[in-house]
Amino acid sequence: MCGIVGYIGKRDAYPIILNGLKRLEYRGYDSAGIALYDGSEIQLCKTKGKVADLEAKVSKEMPTKGNLGIGHTRWATHGIPNDVNSHPHFSNSGNLVIIHNGIIENYTSIKKELINRGYIFYSDTDTEVLVNLIEDVKKNENVKLGKAVQIALNQVVGAYAIAVYDKNKPDEIVVAKLGSPLAIGIGDDEFFIASDASPFIEFTNNAIYLEDEEMAIIRLGREINIRKIKDDSLVAPYIQELQLNLEQIEKGGYDHFMLKEIYEQPSVIQDTFRGRLLADKGIIRLGGLEDYIEKFVNADRIIIVACGTSWHAGLVAEYIFEDWARIPVEVEYASEFRYRNPVITEKDVVIAISQSGETADTLAAVKLAKEKGAFVYGICNVVGSTISRATHSGTYTHAGPEIGVASTKAFTTQITVLTMIALKLAKVKGTISQSDYMLHLRELDLIPSKVSTALDKNDSIIEIAKIFKDATNFLYLGRGYNFPVALEGALKLKEISYIHAEGYPAAEMKHGPIALIDEQMPIVVIAVNSNHYDKVVSNIQEIKSRKGKIIAVVTEGDTIVRELADYIMEVPYTPETLSPLVTTIPLQLLSYHIALMLKRNVDQPRNLAKAVTVE
Ligand code: M6R
Repeated sequence: MCGIVGYIGKRDAYPIILNGLKRLEYRGYDSAGIALYDGSEIQLCKTKGKVADLEAKVSKEMPTKGNLGIGHTRWATHGIPNDVNSHPHFSNSGNLVIIHNGIIENYTSIKKELINRGYIFYSDTDTEVLVNLIEDVKKNENVKLGKAVQIALNQVVGAYAIAVYDKNKPDEIVVAKLGSPLAIGIGDDEFFIASDASPFIEFTNNAIYLEDEEMAIIRLGREINIRKIKDDSLVAPYIQELQLNLEQIEKGGYDHFMLKEIYEQPSVIQDTFRGRLLADKGIIRLGGLEDYIEKFVNADRIIIVACGTSWHAGLVAEYIFEDWARIPVEVEYASEFRYRNPVITEKDVVIAISQSGETADTLAAVKLAKEKGAFVYGICNVVGSTISRATHSGTYTHAGPEIGVASTKAFTTQITVLTMIALKLAKVKGTISQSDYMLHLRELDLIPSKVSTALDKNDSIIEIAKIFKDATNFLYLGRGYNFPVALEGALKLKEISYIHAEGYPAAEMKHGPIALIDEQMPIVVIAVNSNHYDKVVSNIQEIKSRKGKIIAVVTEGDTIVRELADYIMEVPYTPETLSPLVTTIPLQLLSYHIALMLKRNVDQPRNLAKAVTVE
């Protein structure tokens, strides 16, 4: 994980790098650092803590002059978060300085070798090993920095996005990528380097996204020189125009990105439909799907691979694909799938779901499925992300940047895309009646306004949050389409409030979790209109007779559950098949308010990072 930023040009590098780090802090936030070239020396400042702590330290300790620099915000992999392990790292001579996002897996053996050659290590990191390896190669082979980076990277195993410069060559930064993202912003004789485009969006709309196993020598006054790390062959730069704007990556008056992103759901779901869902005409048009529809229609199975919240979206998809399109679906944790020697054939379609499009396990699952001959379809949010490029085809969710570590709008837009795919397939296969098809298209079109209505209940959810904020355990129960929503509700609560929470299919309660229920235990039950409504009511009765506290998500106008539950959170009526798109809203708000009341860092919960680019 980690975020990296760099600048070389005519402007002051410090404010650009500092602001860039603030924008990338979602990627890791246990320590931060910066290395500026001031015209003769490298000024370096780093600290355990957040970018704000770095800013405070720099203001006391470091001159901020200079037009060349690199910065880093860290999510620790090797070595605890402390000042010494923070990036950037110097080489032993003090000439080279590096930032790194990723893991060098064989760093121990390289470190031993370098120690034998007299190198001294001050940190526990794999990154310090890499910068000294580059230095060693540069010295022994008598080559320039770019060549030394290339030779060194051919000796390492692992993942990286790196930026490195030499104080004796201060018109050049060398970058390289394998497995971790790296974007280069192209200005007017100035260059920006970052893990994503957000740090430089106000300066340029032109960017190059390096591909895996590529490196670039970025030199002032020259064209960017991109090469394959393996064989040194030249790569023609492909400059993309960015779609991002500044407003999208700011909080826009909300206290937290998470709250902003929860409230953006009506509009981003609409964006996900735009030009794709023509409800009145009965048309669903998904660019990435049209050319490959036969692959889906003739598939023996659909296998969905994902992690975390995206995996929960996959579970919802299992219900809708099987229900409407009658295609068998398996939903796999990408991290298990990739190591399991799974049986996959050319008749399988694999769907990879990932907000960031960078999750290491999901990416590895994509590569494995491709190797085994499956057709692989990506559902990603981040345009141009590694997974979106690694798949054969796919659909973007168009949710806009999701910066809060807890996924919210990514989840509902993923379900929106998956719902459109399922309806389209059902229509093509003839497994859905015309009336059902048209009904669901129209209902899907109404979802943004129903999500708005669900959001309007925020005040009553704040009252419930006040009552349960000190609970130490929560259970979340749901059946059918709303079982994955129960899992997602529990994940949201635990990741941002640090309260233990478990999601279960409501009927499984009797097989164990019921033992947990006592008068203190809040149980969130999703009890909206559905084929299982009566059964959920029975589950609620069972909880009630054990004195558990019931917080029920109910359909507006419900009377039965309202009578039984201690507290209710209302959502508008939707057909059961689409209900996860609205039932998830009160659960997101409940988690947010509880975390806020407990004074948690809502956008950057402890130990987590937004893009999990390490396995
Ligand atoms: O970017 P991805 O969708 O691949 O990320 C997958 C998970 O890391 C992510 O959903 C994670 O579980 C979130 N923190 C959940 O809110």
